Amino acid sequence: MNEIRLSLKDMGTPLKIGQPVSLTIDGQAVTVAKGTSVMRAAAEAGIAIPKLCATDGLEAFGSCRVCLVEIEGRKGYPASCTTAVEEGMEVRTGSPRLDELRRNVVELYVSDHPLDCVNCSANGNCELQDVAVSLGVEESRYGLGEGGYRELEADTSNPYFSFDPAQCIVCYRCVRACDDIQGTFALTVDGRGYASRITAGQLESFMESDCVSCGACVNHCPTEALMEKSVIIEGQPERSVTTTCAYCGVGCSFHAELKGDTVLRMTPDKAGQANAGHACVKGRFAFGYATHRDRITQPMIRDSIEDPWREVSWDEAFAFTARRLREIQERHGPDSIGGITSSRCTNEETYLVQKMVRAAFGNNNVDTCARVCHSPTGYGLKTTLGESAGTQAFHSVAHADVIMVMGANPSDAHPVFASRLKRRLREGAKLIVVDPRRIELVNSPHVKADHHLALRPGSNVAFINAMAHVVVTEGLEDRDFVAARCEQEAYLKWREFITGEQNSPEMTERITGIPAAELRAAARLFATAPNAAIYYGLGVSEHSQGSTTVMGIANLAMITGNLGREGVGVNPLRGQNNVQGSCDMGSFPHELPGYRHISDPAVRNLFETDWNVTLRAEPGLRIPNMFDASVAGHFKGLYVQGEDVAQSDPNTQHVEAALRGLECLVVQDLFLNETARFAHVFLPGSSFLEKDGTFTNAERRISRVRKAIEPLAGMADWEVTMALSKALGYPMDYRHPSEIMDEIARLTPTFAGVNYTKLDRLGSIQWPCNDEAPEGTPTMHVEEFVRGKGYFAITGFVPTDERATRKYPLLLTTGRILSQYNVGAQTRRTANSEFYSEDVLEIHPFDAEERGIGEGNWCGVVSRAGNTVLRAVLTDRVQPGVVYTTFHFPSSGANVITTDNSDWATNCPEYKVTAVQVSKVSEPSAWQKEYQAFARRQEELLDKARA
Ligand code: SF4
Ligand code: SF4
Ligand code: SF4
Ligand code: FES
Repeated sequence: MNEIRLSLKDMGTPLKIGQPVSLTIDGQAVTVAKGTSVMRAAAEAGIAIPKLCATDGLEAFGSCRVCLVEIEGRKGYPASCTTAVEEGMEVRTGSPRLDELRRNVVELYVSDHPLDCVNCSANGNCELQDVAVSLGVEESRYGLGEGGYRELEADTSNPYFSFDPAQCIVCYRCVRACDDIQGTFALTVDGRGYASRITAGQLESFMESDCVSCGACVNHCPTEALMEKSVIIEGQPERSVTTTCAYCGVGCSFHAELKGDTVLRMTPDKAGQANAGHACVKGRFAFGYATHRDRITQPMIRDSIEDPWREVSWDEAFAFTARRLREIQERHGPDSIGGITSSRCTNEETYLVQKMVRAAFGNNNVDTCARVCHSPTGYGLKTTLGESAGTQAFHSVAHADVIMVMGANPSDAHPVFASRLKRRLREGAKLIVVDPRRIELVNSPHVKADHHLALRPGSNVAFINAMAHVVVTEGLEDRDFVAARCEQEAYLKWREFITGEQNSPEMTERITGIPAAELRAAARLFATAPNAAIYYGLGVSEHSQGSTTVMGIANLAMITGNLGREGVGVNPLRGQNNVQGSCDMGSFPHELPGYRHISDPAVRNLFETDWNVTLRAEPGLRIPNMFDASVAGHFKGLYVQGEDVAQSDPNTQHVEAALRGLECLVVQDLFLNETARFAHVFLPGSSFLEKDGTFTNAERRISRVRKAIEPLAGMADWEVTMALSKALGYPMDYRHPSEIMDEIARLTPTFAGVNYTKLDRLGSIQWPCNDEAPEGTPTMHVEEFVRGKGYFAITGFVPTDERATRKYPLLLTTGRILSQYNVGAQTRRTANSEFYSEDVLEIHPFDAEERGIGEGNWCGVVSRAGNTVLRAVLTDRVQPGVVYTTFHFPSSGANVITTDNSDWATNCPEYKVTAVQVSKVSEPSAWQKEYQAFARRQEELLDKARA
């Protein structure tokens, strides 16, 4: 058995929590929790019982009959996987009779599944092979069966894995994994007896079926029947490194399994506290971008963006960059340059970039791509509860009775959390979905929302106020909670505000479009639940009143007493893998790490002493301010690490004008992204597989990122920032990212107890982690709020300027799709594009018909900011008056049409509401043509540099 398999010991059935039960197994005394199977009890005592259909990721099913045991006083031979332990039970796991029975069963399997192991890709990693060897079965007395599913062709339709019915032993593990873990119910068993076989959908291929390629069936298959194509081609992996997914804010833990220096597959980590052994198509399969031929692995410079790139050494690139940035500061002043940190990079890397800006650039012009997604979460939660982060661990949802999902689409954007959520819903929890669009959760297999409140884009604040209005005016408040936990003066003022008639569902109905009676019913359901939890996403934050809605959500949780324990809480679903971490690490221009204001002399002094530098007391520029200052001509140098602002930020034309205005744009990334078209320096980035560090997910969970392969360009991102800072005259000297974390812990109270040794021991840590909570804090605000008493903020509704008018009668809102990620830089370079290859415009059939638009027609989409062209998909997923698109492909120019409206408190762009007109057209927009020409020219320049 190889090293990987030894580390993945399977206990047969899931862990149970309960009263202790004592029994003997093969004469050995064993004590386990009530409800534990005999199989698991034996495994915990180090006794392996042969098994085929059982695995510890799934509840026992009892179909294969290989795991039989003898129990004193019981007739027959019960299956150990489905038999629960009992006090005083005496179990025998081996006897000549048991061996005979097991061998008979295995011979039957082998009659249908020849042991041609040496020619099989699963050789050495096959449970049937293991069982056959352990029982000494080499061939079947029954001979090979004829016909049946063994005659069927393998299904290779999925780009990442194949299904070979000839290798299938019909153990149902795949079906149960798809149903119970993933919740997609894509697999069934067709036929009966010998003829029964596994099939996707209704005798469809995997690609044609509802399968979402999460890989759970592949993980649980005991044979080669379902297997990764990479392993079939390359053979079994030889070593593994445990690390954290670099895609979304769920932060799944994975084993990167390698052969030599090639990552063959990513298998989800059963011990991963965020994902418990599950994954989605992105983390599980879409890692090939890391070694894609488009990776730039040599630093490049050029004097002007019309010049060809010139490949240079790292030293020359650093010297060139430092000289240019210093010259700009001499000519235009110290504040004429700045930096942008990345929510895709590690905490340690983000920390170093903000440190370099403050200490080496000498200003506070640092901001983060988290600005464009969850900055209102930070502001809203800090104001009301005292901490800028979600309140729960993901597993808390298993204790929720009512779950409100607002402005989030977990099935697409946070799929592994969605699977947990759906499991709870199948157990009976109630669901309220608040979204203009009919997202998958509204009606999916075995899940139906109790209320889908399809509000109009831009009316979130009116909605959340109406919910609280019903709670207060109908006497559903948790008075004890409010009296004990919240500031009374603020509460009374808020109460007076919220009970105002303008907040009643009847008055807000005209704004939100939600029928008053349905909103009242949803509010009652939420307020009367023993445990009600709120999960929200960018559909809340990316609005001109994003911060107000977040405060409204916190108000609703406080007024119903739903904070400070399991099963409740306010839970932002973060977009990118390290959005939480990049905010924690001091990436905002007004805050040092740990969200402490730069103007506070005591805080500043702490950092000044440690960093041996004088820090400026006044906050620096936010990203939109940097762009405005560039267009105005007094901001000239920018360092952007791991963010593609030219594609991801709103009002593309304005962003491009700002980037063109720079005299030194330094882009550090894996690929020559859209922003790099305007860059003078390109510094190769390193993928998550090439470095050490930590990410912090949406639950405040800090998890290790571990190097699996050497950096393709020779340097990890943290080393690059260190070298650039040195070239600027401010040397930093860390030998390993663990030393950066030690500094973070030294200077940041919420991280005081975090270090790599502890992370290795515990697996992960949810901050705050300090003397009071040495192993971290799964649930926040348990005894009291971080700010002491909870603060009810007044949340008056102010309509956005983006309103449907005669000129722009439709409201455009944006979102994500499961298989693509953010601006698509990674997923577009994987086979995920086979699932989704272009951004489209979803439009209601009524609106389409009015405009003469048919399915698949090209549509011109015009807003006051710009116009683009997208292909139409007619669907009633969107309501009349609303259109929807994604933003994963640069050429679709989705952000050419979004405006520069932004949240009043944080400048988070209002991506979710743009007034547009849509019409049938026959060719791309002027911007798209210009983009294509410019992109072609840049490709040519790159080719010249490489030649
Ligand atoms: S495909 Fe694999 S998991 Fe599914 S029934 Fe066949 S052997 Fe079992
Ligand atoms: S890959 Fe996931 S969704 Fe597809 S069949 Fe397997 S378990 Fe179901
Ligand atoms: S759910 Fe998110 S973190 Fe988990 S595998 Fe998918 S993309 Fe990665
Ligand atoms: S492992 Fe127990 S019946 Fe299959």
